[in-house]
Amino acid sequence: MGRREKWSGGRELISTEAEVMPAVLAAFAQTPNGRLKEIMASAVTHLHRFISETRPTEAEFETALAWISALGHHTDEAHNEVVLAADVLGASTLIDLINNDGMQGETMSALLGPFYRGHAPECANGDCIARSPTPGAALYFSGLVTTVDGTPVEGAKLDVWQASPVGFYENQDPDQQDYNLRGIFHTDRSGRFDFVSVKPAGYPVPTDGPVGDLLRAQRRDPMRPAHIHFIVSAPGHKTLITQIFSDNREALANDVVFGAKQQIVGDFLQHDKPDAEYPGAVPPFFTCRYRFVLKPGTPTFPLPPISGKKS
Ligand code: BEZ
Ligand code: FE
Repeated sequence: MGRREKWSGGRELISTEAEVMPAVLAAFAQTPNGRLKEIMASAVTHLHRFISETRPTEAEFETALAWISALGHHTDEAHNEVVLAADVLGASTLIDLINNDGMQGETMSALLGPFYRGHAPECANGDCIARSPTPGAALYFSGLVTTVDGTPVEGAKLDVWQASPVGFYENQDPDQQDYNLRGIFHTDRSGRFDFVSVKPAGYPVPTDGPVGDLLRAQRRDPMRPAHIHFIVSAPGHKTLITQIFSDNREALANDVVFGAKQQIVGDFLQHDKPDAEYPGAVPPFFTCRYRFVLKPGTPTFPLPPISGKKS
C-alpha cells in the first residue's frame, strides 16, 4: 500500500511528524460539548507544539509519564499531590487571578491549596481553634465581612484553617487532634467574627513525593510564608477563597506556590503587656484585625482536595 492510501471511510494514515496534530484535532471534531472541544483543541495544539519544540528523547518521555503516574500514587484521602503539583507550577495562581482580579474592590483571593479538608467543626465567636497542645504565641483574630460599599454582611460563613507552627497541618501529623486549627465561624449582626488561635509560621510544602523530586532538581526552596486560610461565603456574594499572610517581604516573594499578595498581608500586632481589650490573654500575644470585602455573585464551594487524616 502506498503512503497516502486511505482505509475505507477513515482518514489518511500518519507517517510524518507534521501530520500528527491535524489528525488529533480532526478526531476531536465531533465533540458535542463546545467548551470541551475548545479546551481540548487548544491543549493538544500547545502540547504538540511544546513537544515539537523541546524534542524529548524516549527516555525523557518515560520519565515524564512516570512523574505524572507518581502524582496519582502519592494521592490519597489525607494528601493531594496533584493539587500540590498544580500549585508549584503556578497553574493554580494563574487560574485564581484569571477568575478573581480584585477590580471591584473585593479582597484579593489566593489559591485553595491541597490541605482544605471541609466539614470542620462549627464554632462560636471567640472560640479557640487550637484543639490540642500547639506551640506558638496566642493570636486573637477579629474579622469584619462587608460588601464593596462597606455594608456589614450578617451570617457570612468563614471556613478557617492553618498549619501548626511545627510545620504540619493536622491531617499530616498524628500528634495533632483531629481538626486542630480548623473551624467554621459566622458573622454576627454587625458583620463581625473572632477567634483565638496561634500566630502562624511558615512551613515547607511536602517534599517526599514527585513534587519534592522536581523542587530538588530545580534547586527550589519549598517554603510557604506564614498564613491563615479563609473561605468566606454569604448568599448573594461570590465566595472568597483567600489567605491572610503574616510574613516579611522576602518570605512572601519566595512563596513556592506564588500565592502571596501584598493586598492580603495582615497587620499582626505583638502585645508585650496585658490589654483590657483581651482579658485573659497572656503576653506576649498577637492580634490581627482584618476586613474581608465580598463582591456580588453566586456562592460556590470548592471540592476539598482531601477528606481525612493520615492514619
Ligand atoms: C497551603 O497553603 O496550604 C498550600 C498551598 C499550596 C501548596 C501547599 C500548601
Ligand atoms: Fe497553607
